Amino acid sequence: MFDSGLGGLSVLREIHARLPHIPLHYIADSAWCPYGGREPEEIRRRAHALATHLVARHAHMLVVACNTATMAAIDSLRTEFTLPIIGMEPAVKPAAAHTRSGVIGVLATGAALAGEKFHQLVTRHAASVKVVTRPCPGLVERVESGDLGSPDLLADLESHTRHLLCAGADVIVLGCTHYPFLRPALSRILPADITIIDTGSAVARQVENRLSEAPALIATQAPPAADSPPIDLHIETTGDPPHIQTLAPKLWPATAAAKFSGL
Ligand code: DGL
Repeated sequence: MFDSGLGGLSVLREIHARLPHIPLHYIADSAWCPYGGREPEEIRRRAHALATHLVARHAHMLVVACNTATMAAIDSLRTEFTLPIIGMEPAVKPAAAHTRSGVIGVLATGAALAGEKFHQLVTRHAASVKVVTRPCPGLVERVESGDLGSPDLLADLESHTRHLLCAGADVIVLGCTHYPFLRPALSRILPADITIIDTGSAVARQVENRLSEAPALIATQAPPAADSPPIDLHIETTGDPPHIQTLAPKLWPATAAAKFSGL
């Protein structure tokens, strides 16, 4: 799995909850974080470099745990690599099915919202509702610095979500894998009847389904019965390993048992 930073852990924890025996190898591309303001071609180059590294480490499946990288690179990754590749996309489809007001709001990075892929997603799955988008520059950096609830962060969230609420949205899609870590902060500032949706558990289900199509892989990975096996997780970063090792357990405590290294 990879992401521009540690946001993809919001997806990884869902995969681990469903498939606790599967070894996981995660790359935080922290030296290039955030991806959200970068050109698609640069994001594609990063995605291919990281996928090449993971394939060389004998990955059986690749999860692009980043909406921005999925939008920019999933097609070219699937052209170059033969292993199963699962990507993220903002949960526009379930949001369109859920809304009662007929308006859904999407918080994501500028790069994820700007691409043709997002446009196609809306046309395909949300043509009957109004979709209001809001790029949120700076939020990824806040999560990467461990800020999940400062007054400044709450003010940022208030200003981003006000835009969506004023347009009538009753469902808010978290279209960036960093944002689920801001759910507690969002719950503090949003009216109780607003539904927040992210894609982590749907992607975990997809990973499970793809693995069940390859029973040999599951058989080789399943250890003898154990109630809760220790997590088998290696986190590499192109950034500063001590920072990542300190930050990761703040986002998801289970990573305290992970192996960390630089890339
Ligand atoms: N977690 C990435 C995503 O889902 C963040 C992108 C960024 O680094 O700006 O889009």
